[in-house]
Amino acid sequence: MTSNESKRNLIIVSNRLPVSIKRVDGTYQSSISSGGLVTSLSGLCKSTEFQWFGWPGLEVKGTKDIADVEVTLSEHHAIPIFLDSGLAHEHYNGFSNRILWPILHYQSGVIFDDGPWQAYRRVNELFADSIAKVAESGTLIWVHDYHLMLLPELLRARLQQKGKHCAIGFSLHTPFPAGDFWRNLPVRKHLIESLLASDLIGFHTDEYKQNFIDTCASLLGARTEIPNQIQYKNRLVCTDKFIVGIDPQKFTDTLNQPAVRERIKALEEKYRGMKVIVGVDRLDHIKGLTQKLKGYDAFLDDHPELQNKVLLIQVAVPSREDVKEYKELDTELNTIAGMINGKHATPEGTPLLYMHRSVPFTELAALYSIADVCLLTSTRDGMNLVSFEYVACQAERHGVLVLSEFAGAATFMGEGSISFHPANTTEMSEAISKGLNLDDAERKRKYEYLRDFVNKNTSARWGETFIERLSQRCKRPGSPC
Ligand code: ADP
Ligand code: F6P
Repeated sequence: MTSNESKRNLIIVSNRLPVSIKRVDGTYQSSISSGGLVTSLSGLCKSTEFQWFGWPGLEVKGTKDIADVEVTLSEHHAIPIFLDSGLAHEHYNGFSNRILWPILHYQSGVIFDDGPWQAYRRVNELFADSIAKVAESGTLIWVHDYHLMLLPELLRARLQQKGKHCAIGFSLHTPFPAGDFWRNLPVRKHLIESLLASDLIGFHTDEYKQNFIDTCASLLGARTEIPNQIQYKNRLVCTDKFIVGIDPQKFTDTLNQPAVRERIKALEEKYRGMKVIVGVDRLDHIKGLTQKLKGYDAFLDDHPELQNKVLLIQVAVPSREDVKEYKELDTELNTIAGMINGKHATPEGTPLLYMHRSVPFTELAALYSIADVCLLTSTRDGMNLVSFEYVACQAERHGVLVLSEFAGAATFMGEGSISFHPANTTEMSEAISKGLNLDDAERKRKYEYLRDFVNKNTSARWGETFIERLSQRCKRPGSPC
């Protein structure tokens, strides 16, 4: 099989599709989904053809409605796997986001519940049924993220029953925690055993990869003496770090649009004489938004001379709003945001612009472009592509990335950014101050380092590298990694 043939025969599987469907006034409308997974795979679309299977995001009943949704999604090469709303809720909110997500991000206090776990299993089975039907021998199947960790094993069994030989790859878009933390999950063995039915498993950093390898050895007794290779039950599984990225050209093109240039000019005029800090995060505990607002409050306390001269524009993109913990966080952030402006506002203005909504892509690019600093405070984060996007929009200003040491991106961007511990408000305040006061030469040096990294490690390169490695596994299953 040539590389081109393998690309034509590629199936991507993820819970979320590139577009989310909503029913408005009796018709189905689509909008671009937010999140790192969609950003990285959308960048790959430019160079590679594939069919993308996933959950459309709502329950659809009746032949006509199903056909409408299928047509809407087909424009994006996406194929829906329909789920009834109760099952989807228990799978996505109940198990994936309330149990698995916190454990993957080192959050304690998770309570396991069998109901959501059974729903998780069922949804993974339904995905396996659909994919096994359409895959042909030689198809490369690339499964994404923690919602579908049982899929490799379920799929492998179904494909074998049908006599089809396909390569299965799996990429995790979150951290994989250290072994002792993973033990908090009662079904920990099932999930990693299933992942070992893959041919190739990708992580964002070496640390996540090594945590996974060590867990396979300690929990399952898998043999892991050869680097990047896991031998378990007569299977040889390869694993590696694949650096995920963005499509920087998309930002350059957007910033060159006349309307966006106008918008940038207007914003620059509005904030003339002020320092602007930007933050863009899904409203999620792992993004450390509570810590960010508290750190910013400390920074304002520490720098009274900056009164009316500094502004934090924080976009908190709505996310997982049916989960209790996310609703509570929303309330907490509104309170802290109000507190900060109540405490530091003057008749001339407020130091915080907190927006709890999704903003259009052009506006996002304009905000990145006008900011002197981008402040990202994740308590844990698989990679954090917002940090890449900020860099892609800073060709003119050479703004500074102030980045939590717990974002996966900090592994690669340390040299070009200012790093801090997100739980330490004093350290955060100092990091913001340093970021705002770097001299031109140092800002340029840091920017160029980050620009080269972002331009080299694009989403297209990430995808092509993974697919090429998976295609090698398909040709020579069982060969050394
Ligand atoms: P996560 O995957 O946890 O959400 P990342 O920082 O890796 O975090 O990725 C977030 C992605 O979501 C970025 O690519 C960002 O541009 C994108 N995004 C943010 N707001 C929107 C929006 N309104 N519409 C579409 N994508 C958005
Ligand atoms: O970064 C992890 C991740 O689950 C991505 O897969 C996804 O893009 C993002 O978080 C948003 O999650 P959701 O699909 O729940 O909106």
